[in-house]
Amino acid sequence: MKQLKILIIEDEKLIRWSLEKHLSSKGYKVFSAESGEEGLREFELHQPEIVFTDNKLPQMQGLEVIRKIKSMDEETAIVFMTAFGSIDTAVSAMKAGASEYINKPFSFEEVEVILGNIKQKLAITKEVQLLRRQQKETVTFDHIIGESAALRQIIQLSKKIARTQTTTILLLGESGTGKDLFARAIHYEGSQNTRPFVTINCSSLPESLLESELFGYEKGAFTDAKQQKKGLFEIADGGTVFLDEIGEINMSTQIKLLNVLENRVIRRLGGTAGIPVEIRIIAATNKDLKKAVDEKLFREDLYYRLKVFQITLPALREHKDDIPLLTDYFIKYYNNQFKKNISSIHKSAIELLKKYDWPGNIRELRNVIERAVILETTSVLQADCLPGEIMHLDHGFEVDAIEVPKNYFSSDNTLPPGEIEIPEGGLSLFGLEKQVIKQALDKSENNQTKASKLLRISRDTLRYKIKKYRL
Ligand SMILES: Nc1ncnc2c1ncn2[C@@H]1O[C@H](COP(=O)(O)OP(=O)(O)OP(=O)(O)O)[C@@H](O)[C@H]1O
Ligand SMILES: [Mg+2]
Repeated sequence: MKQLKILIIEDEKLIRWSLEKHLSSKGYKVFSAESGEEGLREFELHQPEIVFTDNKLPQMQGLEVIRKIKSMDEETAIVFMTAFGSIDTAVSAMKAGASEYINKPFSFEEVEVILGNIKQKLAITKEVQLLRRQQKETVTFDHIIGESAALRQIIQLSKKIARTQTTTILLLGESGTGKDLFARAIHYEGSQNTRPFVTINCSSLPESLLESELFGYEKGAFTDAKQQKKGLFEIADGGTVFLDEIGEINMSTQIKLLNVLENRVIRRLGGTAGIPVEIRIIAATNKDLKKAVDEKLFREDLYYRLKVFQITLPALREHKDDIPLLTDYFIKYYNNQFKKNISSIHKSAIELLKKYDWPGNIRELRNVIERAVILETTSVLQADCLPGEIMHLDHGFEVDAIEVPKNYFSSDNTLPPGEIEIPEGGLSLFGLEKQVIKQALDKSENNQTKASKLLRISRDTLRYKIKKYRL
């Protein structure tokens, strides 16, 4: 921890001096002032994290000093020093913003206890701020990549909805298309972004637990309810509740949820009082909710209530033109993470990425790039760092280690006319391809353009295969 600065505002010379000496010996950087006004000047000048202030000061009372300091920097920890027995003043000081008070005369042990408390609080505040900032950093619209018409339109729409504070949103789309990402971006774009974003996966909890998580319960609502507990809707008041995999909730929870959406009031389990909540609900699913409605597994009224604003995220195969941009973005991201310095991706590798169908959508692309960045040793991502199912797209088989039988080809080394007969012992397709490419190269006297024409493949594909088969 860096050296903390402490300001002492105290007109009694002896107290000021001894406290100053003690704190300096403990490693703090100490400043002091004899009056309230001087104290405020010193505060502005040095911006200490901690202030000790007396109550009875020349020119300005301690309470006023506290208020002024707090208005300059709300985070400052203030210790109020007061004469023994004046508990009322201590209470007013705490109300004005002091975090601790100490009765005069005090011992250095007491000072140490108080400083211990303050340091702990400062550390927690820092951590919370850091977490908030980190979370915010990863979830703005700046982190949603895509310039295809499909995605641009969705991003614009989402930004618009983000400005309304409590509009319910239904996010649809296959797994890995970015539902989670959009939910967060919408929350952090809106004015409620200082309030909590809570997320719950409806399929991960048994129904009874899901209800108590969402709505909370009163003491005695069921055997284990030893104490009252707030539910997520209450905790997130003013913010957003993200209900992931909404298609999984059962009928009883569906009714309760509908009630929340219609009346903006929740009832804890075992409770009777309605508690008003002001929240935005974002629900998501990769299931066909309409079908669930038709099959009577999902309430129609709830479905229509949720889909007031429906956003369907496209599968990656429907916006393949975003692949280069996304790839660049993930390369940069993993460069940073793994301290690599990959500047670009080879054209043939991008072509392969564009050919692939991406059943796992952007999540899968992200994972593929992560793996490739780890594996690549040059400064350009090459196709051979892509996983097998993508790398072998153009010939549809996996590389294996079987050697081609040397005697399979006829002596003049041309391909057998008509249908190829697989010999008794089988043959390796890998070996066959390798042989054919070798022949094409021989025939064209190593002219790759000619060889690729003979094989009716692109030069890039040929080069890639030459590299793969180490020809
Ligand atoms: N447009 C995008 N730009 C950048 N990254 C994206 C984009 N869309 C998705 N991602 C990334 O892809 C991964 C998967 O996205 P996300 O978790 O939001 O998907 P999901 O739709 O919630 O999937 P599931 O249905 O499996 O929960 C995340 O790492 C996310 O950051
Ligand atoms: Mg998700």
